[in-house]
Amino acid sequence: MFLRTYRRSPQRRLLRAVVFILGALFLLDLLTLLKHHREFSRNLVAHSYPELSTLPSPLQNQKIFICAQFWTSAKIIQDRWGQALLDLIGVLGKDNVYVSIYESGSLDDTKAILQFLDKVLADNNIPRTVILDPTTHADEINAGPLDEQGNPRPGWIQTTTVGAGKEMRRIPYLARLRNRVLQPLFNLHSKGQTYDKILFLNDVVFRPSDVLSLLATNQGSFSAACALDFHYPPAYYDTFVLRDSQGNGTIMTSFPYFESPDSREAMLQGRAVKVRSCWNGMVAMDSSPFYEGLRFRALPDSLASKHVEASECCLIHTDMAAMNMAGSGVYLNPAVRVGYTVEAYNSTHTDPDGTFVSSTQYVSGVWSNRIKRILAPRVTKQAKEVAKRMERWTRESKDSLEKREENGQLCIIPEQHILIWNGWKHT
Ligand SMILES: *[C@@H]1O[C@H](CO)[C@@H](O)[C@H](O)[C@H]1NC(C)=O
Ligand SMILES: *[C@@H]1O[C@H](CO)[C@@H](O)[C@H](O)[C@H]1NC(C)=O
Repeated sequence: MFLRTYRRSPQRRLLRAVVFILGALFLLDLLTLLKHHREFSRNLVAHSYPELSTLPSPLQNQKIFICAQFWTSAKIIQDRWGQALLDLIGVLGKDNVYVSIYESGSLDDTKAILQFLDKVLADNNIPRTVILDPTTHADEINAGPLDEQGNPRPGWIQTTTVGAGKEMRRIPYLARLRNRVLQPLFNLHSKGQTYDKILFLNDVVFRPSDVLSLLATNQGSFSAACALDFHYPPAYYDTFVLRDSQGNGTIMTSFPYFESPDSREAMLQGRAVKVRSCWNGMVAMDSSPFYEGLRFRALPDSLASKHVEASECCLIHTDMAAMNMAGSGVYLNPAVRVGYTVEAYNSTHTDPDGTFVSSTQYVSGVWSNRIKRILAPRVTKQAKEVAKRMERWTRESKDSLEKREENGQLCIIPEQHILIWNGWKHT
């Protein structure tokens, strides 16, 4: 008797109705997401190009300037990279490529392996520049903060490490090496030889088809197109450079990564994602801004002294935008995935359907992305800190002759990166 009256109580009925509606919404959401996952997988396949002949025809005869810069990467070059490069040249055709490789100061057999690769390239008449520079990190550091005339060298800053004096920044060094890799592009240009795209390959596992799919990003119309890079999947790797369509860093390291609606929606659909900056293991860039003077650079030393840093691979995008030459857009292409190990590559290429996100990962990714967005502050603590330090830097400009403007704020993080003999460190 009691049970029946209880069941009939209005509160109880309301509760049941609410639970029913929530359950129905949950189920509807789940079914919708599963449908979206199928579309996502289909789009990834539709944007994969296994052969040159499957590329849109204007893209089949492009001239590609291939760049790579190495430091202590013997294993990956020997295991996969060297052969992948040769396979890629076989696919693109040796008349359509130029290879520029720069190595310095490796602590393993990278030099010997690149020497061998250089010989194979030579035997096959592949146009190339391979520089194996004997200068080590230790040589760079031992040169000290002053040049022969006693003037301060750029790229050295006073850090907060106790008793360290001035230390050498990592990013200006890397920017200098990247421009060195590009040098043959400019030498060839002055002889009337031009290239359509510049392709930077990190020390990653890739296949020629990954490069073809990258070149086909947005039908080949892009200022820059990047892969997704993995070291320990499902997390992607290069958070230092990736910024969404609003210029924010990613909100999570696993799928669907992004906070901004545009970037997130494109990723959820498996289409090329408009971003403000990316690099992520492999990037193809329109060469024209470089012919107009675009170069890699670092933040000014005076700004880096405020304990902030930005990657040269991010600043290149903001500089391209500042030149008004990023009109075709910067895209991250989820159909292209590279790995820092064979295991990482394989585990993001398991499914014959081309997907790298299972339906379970898709659904849980969408749900955790929603929760993170609800909980995320409107402005992150990190962004506030960077804004504060930049403001201090511009405020001090009255006391200095230097013009203090920086268009790469979205690249900046509150860290300091210092070169050391066996790599680099934070201070
Ligand atoms: C990776 O995949 C390739 C081809 O699918 C296979 O031959 C190789 O053994 C795999 N390697 C590892 C370490 O899983
Ligand atoms: C993301 O970018 C927007 C627009 O630039 C900015 O207003 C917002 O504060 C950023 N979000 C976070 C969490 O920093």
